[in-house]
Amino acid sequence: MSFVPSSILVTGGAGFIGSNFIHSFMAGNPDCTVINLDCLTYAGNLKNLVGVEQSLRYRFVKGDIGDAALVAGLLENERVDAVVHFAAESHVDRSITGPEIFVRTNVLGTQILLEESRKHWQSGRVSDFRYLQISTDEVYGSLGETGFFTEETPLTANSPYSASKAGADLLVRAYHETFGMPTLNTRCSNNYGPYHFPEKLIPLLIHNIINRKPLPVYGDGLNVRDWLHVRDHGAAVETVLKKAVPGSVYNIGGNNEWRNIDIVNLVCDLLDERLQRAAGENRTLITFVKDRLGHDRRYAIDASKLKQDLGWSPAYTFEQGIAETIDWYLANQEWVTEVTSGSYREYYQQQYGGGAR
Ligand code: NAD
Ligand code: TYD
Repeated sequence: MSFVPSSILVTGGAGFIGSNFIHSFMAGNPDCTVINLDCLTYAGNLKNLVGVEQSLRYRFVKGDIGDAALVAGLLENERVDAVVHFAAESHVDRSITGPEIFVRTNVLGTQILLEESRKHWQSGRVSDFRYLQISTDEVYGSLGETGFFTEETPLTANSPYSASKAGADLLVRAYHETFGMPTLNTRCSNNYGPYHFPEKLIPLLIHNIINRKPLPVYGDGLNVRDWLHVRDHGAAVETVLKKAVPGSVYNIGGNNEWRNIDIVNLVCDLLDERLQRAAGENRTLITFVKDRLGHDRRYAIDASKLKQDLGWSPAYTFEQGIAETIDWYLANQEWVTEVTSGSYREYYQQQYGGGAR
């Protein structure tokens, strides 16, 4: 049996993963209306939504998930039958220098969204309802050299970012256990792809290589991340929304572990070719820098439950996905200039006293 939403509230739809989700969801669900609630922090950019903005089935609302009255009004007036909650503060490094906003947005914001969703669901205005919480494998903490995170792995978050996401996940669980609310919770590995803000590793590398700037590698460069294309993440979220039993949790990942230094070398080499630089030239930009505080050593996701229960598996190979991503950045330099100006530049000036990286 499948749940077919007719009006979804997407939060954080101007960010990296939310905007990619809106593009593919709108294309694949011609009868569903999408309301995008985003307060446009430094990470939110309406340029990510070019192509869908004109649609009569799309509406953008600039606002905060923590604004209960606004959320309540949207749920009621738009007859929302599914909430897909991407909005968050998402960068680990920022959570180390300024954790408060992470708690405010990721924990308190989520609680407000849950509470308004509960009232809306219980009002009986819509015949069926789902609340889907987008989360991260980082809530499980860090792995040693072997093993994988399953949905049963205890939450042992280590950074202020992952702790705030774990707090939100527990609230989602509480709303299901306490009120019987039809919640869903997905936990995905590291994403890459178009519209990724260039403070995260892969887009930062591409941006800095193009501009011949140093490539900061934290610590020994041997930390491991499990990379998934953002459109594969979106497809998995859609599958869970439509097919999963309320109350369930699903890991999302593509079995694609890379040591950071290997990713750095790969991106350097692919860009040597594309920028017609000498073989090995970009690798000379690699600069080992002080390690991130509390840097999780390894993440690796076991997504077999999602595959077995709901039949999802990734469509992109990493080879194809990373090549397409690099080509997208090369073709969209204007987008990069746009998002790295304004408040991002101010942030870097405050943090580092220089220009944006
Ligand atoms: P992002 O930082 O690119 O985008 C976040 C968006 O949320 C922005 O558009 C921002 O303006 C908006 N936002 C922030 N605070 C808000 C508020 N109070 N009210 C309304 N909007 C607000 O993040 P992303 O990388 O797209 O991540 C989206 C979600 O996926 C997050 O919940 C994140 O924890 C999760 N996730 C990310 C990854 C990853 O690799 N990036 C992996 C797994 C899970
Ligand atoms: P990031 O993209 O910030 O994602 P997360 O911390 O959520 O996994 O970082 C990915 C990995 O790359 C992580 O191990 C930290 C490392 N890293 C660097 O070595 N240099 C950088 O400049 C950044 C941003 C990250």
